[in-house]
Amino acid sequence: MENLHHHRKSYEKNNLVEDQINENPLIQFQNWFDEAKGNEHISEANAMSVSTMEEDGCPRIRTVLLKSYSEEGFIFYTNYESKKGESLDKTQLAGIQFFWPSLERQIIIKARVERVSQDLSDSYFNERPRGSQLGAIVSPQSSVIENRQFLEDRLHKLENEYEGKNISRPENWGGYIAKPYEIEFWQGRPNRLHDRILYKKDKENSWSICRLAP
Ligand SMILES: Cc1cc2nc3c(=O)[nH]c(=O)nc-3n(C[C@H](O)[C@H](O)[C@H](O)COP(=O)(O)O)c2cc1C
Repeated sequence: MENLHHHRKSYEKNNLVEDQINENPLIQFQNWFDEAKGNEHISEANAMSVSTMEEDGCPRIRTVLLKSYSEEGFIFYTNYESKKGESLDKTQLAGIQFFWPSLERQIIIKARVERVSQDLSDSYFNERPRGSQLGAIVSPQSSVIENRQFLEDRLHKLENEYEGKNISRPENWGGYIAKPYEIEFWQGRPNRLHDRILYKKDKENSWSICRLAP
């Protein structure tokens, strides 16, 4: 057994206190996200974990890339027939997490999720490099496949089929928007007395703010 009992670090880089936070969590997110994007030790600040509830009641978590965000929510793209697509369409709920180790920061979001408009999915798909467009068509995401060759063969076939032609978005691929109703900002602090600030949306759609014990 590998013992990791002494594998720990003290978090000392920053703090998160009530008189410095923005009352709008999306602006607070933007402030932190901008810092993460500009941090040379963070290569994909927009990588986020998305968790959904599976049919057996167990949450399933995977990384996806945040592609845009606004007051309305967080948008990412995927295969609608994937495991996550099926769960998202069914439950319309997701948990989202960002962890930026070099800033000693975590953000946890609970959100209601829906598909974005077809126009928005089309416009993002059209911006993607050709290889990614073909990849979206080639891969029956989350299905069992026989071997790697299956993908290579399909890619090769589609490359020939689409040569010199425009590639349209397949119907089973597109975006989701996760509309947050809770956002927690976590800042590591010394002695495990971390800062946790939770924003919750109330019935009138305004945000209340409270502090959670670490
Ligand atoms: C850094 C990183 C970024 C990823 N970005 C995406 C993405 O934007 N969309 C996506 O469908 N899968 C993305 N993936 C793959 C997913 O983690 C996952 O393997 C895939 O979506 C299938 O998940 P599912 O079977 O739970 O639906 C990414 C993986 C990593 C490690």
